[in-house]
Amino acid sequence: MILNTETTTKTPASEKHSDFLKSLVEFTKDHRAARWSGTLSDFLESIFRNDAKGIVRTSHQYIWDMMRANGFDESFSDGKFRCQLFEDELFGIDDTIGRVLDYFKAASAGSEVGRRLLLLLGPPSGGKSSMVILLKRGLEAYSQTDAGALYAIHGCPVHESPLHLIPHTLRPQFRQTYGVEITGELCPHCASRLQHENGGDFMQMPVERIFISEAGRVGVGTYAPHDPTTADIADLVGSVDLSKVSEFGDEGDPRAWSWSGAVFAASRGLLEMIEILKVKREFLYLLLTLTQEKNVKVSRFPLISLDETIVAHTNFAEFRKFLQEPENEALLDRMVIIQVPYTLDYKEEARIYRKLCSSTQAFREVHLDPHALHVASVFAVLSRLGESEERDADNVKKVRLYAGEDVEGVAPGDAAKMKQKNPDEGLSGVSPRFVINALSNAIIQSQAKSLTTMDVLIALKDAIESDVRMDGKKKRKWVDFLVAVRKDFYNRWVKEDVHKALFVSFEQEAQQLLDKYLDEVEATLDNRTLRDPITSEERKPDERFLRSVEEKIRISESGKLSFRQEVVRKAMGAYKRGDKFTLDSHAPLHDAVEQYLFESRRDVLRLVSSAARPDDETRQKISVVEKRLVDEYGYDAHSAREALNYVTTLLAQE
Ligand SMILES: Nc1ncnc2c1ncn2[C@@H]1O[C@H](COP(=O)(O)OP(=O)(O)OP(=O)(O)O)[C@@H](O)[C@H]1O
Ligand SMILES: [Mg+2]
Ligand SMILES: [Zn+2]
Repeated sequence: MILNTETTTKTPASEKHSDFLKSLVEFTKDHRAARWSGTLSDFLESIFRNDAKGIVRTSHQYIWDMMRANGFDESFSDGKFRCQLFEDELFGIDDTIGRVLDYFKAASAGSEVGRRLLLLLGPPSGGKSSMVILLKRGLEAYSQTDAGALYAIHGCPVHESPLHLIPHTLRPQFRQTYGVEITGELCPHCASRLQHENGGDFMQMPVERIFISEAGRVGVGTYAPHDPTTADIADLVGSVDLSKVSEFGDEGDPRAWSWSGAVFAASRGLLEMIEILKVKREFLYLLLTLTQEKNVKVSRFPLISLDETIVAHTNFAEFRKFLQEPENEALLDRMVIIQVPYTLDYKEEARIYRKLCSSTQAFREVHLDPHALHVASVFAVLSRLGESEERDADNVKKVRLYAGEDVEGVAPGDAAKMKQKNPDEGLSGVSPRFVINALSNAIIQSQAKSLTTMDVLIALKDAIESDVRMDGKKKRKWVDFLVAVRKDFYNRWVKEDVHKALFVSFEQEAQQLLDKYLDEVEATLDNRTLRDPITSEERKPDERFLRSVEEKIRISESGKLSFRQEVVRKAMGAYKRGDKFTLDSHAPLHDAVEQYLFESRRDVLRLVSSAARPDDETRQKISVVEKRLVDEYGYDAHSAREALNYVTTLLAQE
């Protein structure tokens, strides 16, 4: 997909191919090198001694280590952390990710939260599943590394720690020798094998390195409730395997048990419970006991020790239903609930669309103009903000503020306060999926290779109007958001692009104008004259020029002095820090300079609409502007022409 200029560097296909082959070779090499198997005695001698602390890690500690091994910056210097695991995949929900990290950090430090189930609660397609998937993939990859090496009793259905083989009577001595504690009991399956197959000689029990793999049902388990009436606890904890009963002669023999349940697969790692509140209460009790006591009870067997981290998710509808039943209160107490709201930062929201778009072939072949995704994301964010009707103007400001933009009259720190005041923001509204579906439809229906912002707005409007789940009132409201997006965001953006494209180098001319403004201001404030560079004549500061810039942002005659003093103060500040005073240093002056320059060139745009049959010179002038839109501002020929026409009409209305 040709989104805009930032994605242009390309690697040739052949290079990519050989890079990929290289990674494959390295992957298999790592794989081979890392395998290990031996007896418990070998294990204690050659593996355990070197890293006793690493070997006794709990699943929470293991996950926390995995997160940090992926690249982690907790310095909080800019008030933010970086966790590479989520960095390139989840956008705009740093607070949520921060809470998840806090949970694992506390749990791995031994806090009580590790004995509670982690419940992610959020609106549809808000990234809950994605977050869990990243954890799972992260675990799989980490278990392939040296630091993430995991060992288990060979053939154990719950891939339990080999240390479970050490008898209780020897554990105090073990602790004294190695300084680490063994927790957990041998599973019934291994206990039975130890007696029947190894004659009780635990030092000879086989041990191997294991690799976490969801497909292989090692260290990752997933449970999704299907029909609750037929759901059977066996899905979680297995059942008697009748085919094996005859072999072992007894239904109570653990070797005749089918250890296929999700809780067994997840042992040592992570159990994902999808839509957990839909499951029967019986299931919930089992899971909560599992997190709290680290064991499960299965018929006929003694308690089975299991160490795994349960991450569950659910939506608000289910959650509210669950809250209504008083007997659930005790269950809630044993959960750590983290909300996963939609992002309120439209730039981050647009990154989600970009990610989803670039994974679809149809999208990759389509050019989107540089604001196409941003209008969609502003629309989504508007729908996620507070409800009240008369606050539309506030919400427009808020959208900009939440994206870190300067908004006149609001201190940058106010964004955080506003968010705190409105804890429900981001919990409902337009989901990323809604937007992506609308965009897909637009592409498929039009078969266009170029989608403009206006096309996107129309596609969103169609999607709203054809949505059968929405009532009329909500539809009207969402369409109003689209109107606001166009009026308060898109018009400004596209005008700025087109205006800038009127100049050979807008940045340079703007900087020159800014420098001139500053010179003249300094001269007036100091009561100095200026020397004309060509005639060398002394002249007074150009008050007319100063006023014509200032009037663009409505600085009054009486306000001009304080405005100028403030500009000079800022310029001096920049100068002292060794920075250059640029348009970005002063937002109001930025607007003033832009408008001053734009108005000086507007006649070209008037030509676009006025000349019904443009002459060659006019056509030439227009095509230069179009070309700059393409070369420098991320448009393609089609969208550049559309933008130019659009802005011309806007100007005619002014
Ligand atoms: N903050 C985000 N950053 C990046 N991608 C996101 C974000 N939120 C949602 N997505 C994307 O939107 C899609 C849907 O998200 P996901 O399936 O994770 O949501 P969910 O919360 O599990 O939804 P549901 O409740 O419907 O199961 C995914 O492709 C995901 O990558
Ligand atoms: Mg999901
Ligand atoms: Zn076992």
